[in-house]
Amino acid sequence: MKILVINGPNLNLLGKREISLYGKQSIEDILQSISKKYSCIMLDYLQSNIEGDLVNYLQDADQNYDGIILNAAAYTHTSIAIADAIAAIQTPVVEVHISNIFGREQERKTSLISANCIGSISGFGPASYELAVHFFNL
Ligand code: DQA
Repeated sequence: MKILVINGPNLNLLGKREISLYGKQSIEDILQSISKKYSCIMLDYLQSNIEGDLVNYLQDADQNYDGIILNAAAYTHTSIAIADAIAAIQTPVVEVHISNIFGREQERKTSLISANCIGSISGFGPASYELAVHFFNL
């Protein structure tokens, strides 16, 4: 099984950024620990701080992966373009967030992408990514 993890803006700083919210683990740490547990899954990873790159990643990944795990970060709350890209492709997308977006500031409580994703996982820390992999592995 092939899964693509796509991270949006500022998630390149995981492990250094607002540690109380997002934890001490870098994305490399997170993906390495998932790969150890799920040796049958091939995980690829892309990250960009640019909205259009995320749209391109989704379009390019379509039908080349069994699933996509997307943490669109702040674009979750603003991007109709990313929501449209998810709707336009056939590969299922799981939305993930490290923090619980529903327990945070008002502007983070809305996700423009959720309705177009197969499901959403929010608030389990770095384990949110692993839970999404687990779903694809069911
Ligand atoms: C985030 C939550 C977003 O509101 C925020 O902009 C992020 C990270 C999360 O993983 O908890 O950058 O997507």
